[in-house]
Amino acid sequence: MIEALHGTARAMVSRPRGILAADESIGTMSSRLEKVGVAATADNRRDYREMLVTTPELHEGISGVILSDETFNQKLSDGNTFPLAVHALNILPGIKVDTGAKDLALSPGEKITEGLDGLRERLRDYVSRGARFAKWRAVITIGEGRPTERALRANAHALARYAALCQESVLVPIVEPEVLMDGDHTIERCAEVTRAALEYLLAELDDAGVDLAGTVLKPNMVVPGTTSGQQASPEEIAEATVTTLRAVLPETLAGVAFLSGGQSPEVATANLAAMQKHETPWPLTFSFGRALVDPALKAWHGDSALISAGQQALAGRVQPNSAAVA
Ligand code: G3H
Repeated sequence: MIEALHGTARAMVSRPRGILAADESIGTMSSRLEKVGVAATADNRRDYREMLVTTPELHEGISGVILSDETFNQKLSDGNTFPLAVHALNILPGIKVDTGAKDLALSPGEKITEGLDGLRERLRDYVSRGARFAKWRAVITIGEGRPTERALRANAHALARYAALCQESVLVPIVEPEVLMDGDHTIERCAEVTRAALEYLLAELDDAGVDLAGTVLKPNMVVPGTTSGQQASPEEIAEATVTTLRAVLPETLAGVAFLSGGQSPEVATANLAAMQKHETPWPLTFSFGRALVDPALKAWHGDSALISAGQQALAGRVQPNSAAVA
């Protein structure tokens, strides 16, 4: 059981591959479809995800795909369910299991991620239908007096309870404590908050008995706030990020797969490439959503004659990220 977890976690971060995050909630996916002129229907969300996962040779640069609950329950046009189809393409199927970030009580401007109630039963069901790993995203905001210790602690605790439940069901947990880029904070402040969020998380994972060799961390890169006016080169971002991770993460962790967080596809890739110049005890790869799929969504925009154009656009983003971590 432990060996299976470790093997899956290693496979998820094995060079030259990363993880495709295609797990947008129904609400988020619907608004992204509408932005490119596509009606927000369950069939269109399905068609879009089918276009992504059937991209030729996707497995060469992608080790796993994170699916949403809706997609997990849908079928491709050949009648296979998404998790079974993805598995047949030599890619590990994953499932986003949190139910979203809600307002944290008595903490204006802060969020707590929900989804723990009934999670054990949901995880068993996902495993029986082919899931090999899961994802839970916590959201940390930087601002006046934020984040509070309360928000850091509550989110770390929920992540750890989720991760322990995953490992009990032999699912590798992706733990994602995302410090948002929104705000006018400096890169130094982002480093400080990222470090604090990771310290709380590691302490809670330890308390919960989570095995780090069967866990993948999905952190933000350490970057200046989007409205700070501060510029940072890929080398500066890589230096700040790796220094922060090294200060906190035990060597036993299976690997790190970064989120893109709203960076442009090219910037996210350049930052990821710069990280590779640093020696780290864990592989540093990608688990991008927008930085992989945005060009594909625009190229396809719901037209069945443009499936191949969408797939080429996705392949055009997978390839440089895969090359960056090779
Ligand atoms: O939870 C966030 C996604 O898995 C990663 O999305 O790369 O667009 O930030 P992103």
